Amino acid sequence: MKAILIDQWVTNLSDLRISTVPSPKCGANALRIRVTHAAITHVDLLYAQGRHQNNRRHVRLPLILGTEFAGVVLSAAPTSSFRPGTRVFGFGIGSFAEEICVDEHQVRPVPGHWTNAEACAVGGSAAVAFGALGEGCGNVKAGQSVLVLGASGGLGVAAIQVATALGAAKVIGVVGGAEKEAVVRSLGADAVDYRDDKWPTRVVELTDGAGVDVVFDPIGAVDDGLKCLKYGGKILVVGFAARGGVMEKVSMNKVLLKGAGVIGYRFGEQSRRSPAETSVIWRNTMALISHNKIEPVVYEQVYQGLENIPQALEDVSKRKVWGRAVVSIARNEHVHSESPRL
Ligand SMILES: NC(=O)c1ccc[n+]([C@@H]2O[C@H](COP(=O)([O-])OP(=O)(O)OC[C@H]3O[C@@H](n4cnc5c(N)ncnc54)[C@H](OP(=O)(O)O)[C@@H]3O)[C@@H](O)[C@H]2O)c1
Repeated sequence: MKAILIDQWVTNLSDLRISTVPSPKCGANALRIRVTHAAITHVDLLYAQGRHQNNRRHVRLPLILGTEFAGVVLSAAPTSSFRPGTRVFGFGIGSFAEEICVDEHQVRPVPGHWTNAEACAVGGSAAVAFGALGEGCGNVKAGQSVLVLGASGGLGVAAIQVATALGAAKVIGVVGGAEKEAVVRSLGADAVDYRDDKWPTRVVELTDGAGVDVVFDPIGAVDDGLKCLKYGGKILVVGFAARGGVMEKVSMNKVLLKGAGVIGYRFGEQSRRSPAETSVIWRNTMALISHNKIEPVVYEQVYQGLENIPQALEDVSKRKVWGRAVVSIARNEHVHSESPRL
């Protein structure tokens, strides 16, 4: 099969090449999946460059890149709850390829009202956002206010929708530029542009001077988040997309003065440590999806084929993209599927 395999970390994304590699060997209970679509996430940028914390332990070279996908089950164990032909979406290292093997718990059936491209855009983001904002972590309650940093990104658009579904009375998204403001507003959130230095003041104004109850931070801006926080509020540290590998240093007196809770949330590690908790998160996330509380936000550019993955990665790294960039990998006629909605 064709895949984007690396045997050394890349500094230049345009150096990525398609290789012909053997089809993956699936374990007895794994699903073999024809990948129809692959998402381009910030994690993919970090994995390609060997700059993610997982590259020290779980995700080592040689490596087929790609982390989130949608596809069609090609084969499954007789005991599996998935049948060949079922459309699925989820997580799996090695999704920049024509086929992937994953354990059942890594995928969910594509809802009937979504195409595979749409399911791919949601990927794991809604579940990550639910894990961070929901019970046991952010505990967002009805009537609260939530600030979403990196709000036009893949995780950001999911966080806006999950916060709204949890009953937040006000959700404010921080973005760079008018096009991204429009994306955030289309999801029902207020939008604030970080290119105005006074944006934290604007956030506080939008909460009538109170500040927000919860900050969802996938970009690494706790110091700014604290400026927007209500006394006794929480900051959820989810990622560092804006840091370029250099972590921020925060004066702890600011945490004390706000009586703030600063909580790190790491979906993958939680899943390894507590699979039962992750199943509940997925169940709740799928319930939101079935009630149309989560809508896919697919970036407008159509990326066709594995050969366009380097371009899509470049576009994400240059912050051209909003929502999730999705690359179509298998043409419909190559896919053995019971469903026409690919
Ligand atoms: N904790 C977890 O379990 C978990 C799971 C998945 C991902 N993550 C992490 O979450 C983060 C986001 O992932 P993603 O896939 O959603 O990324 P993404 O789709 O590429 O979005 C990144 C966002 O960051 C914003 N951004 C980048 N540089 C910025 C800057 N200098 N100032 C302000 N905003 C900036 C961009 O906003 P503009 O385009 O408006 O500038 C964009 O909205 C990554 O760090 C990823 O590693 C964590």
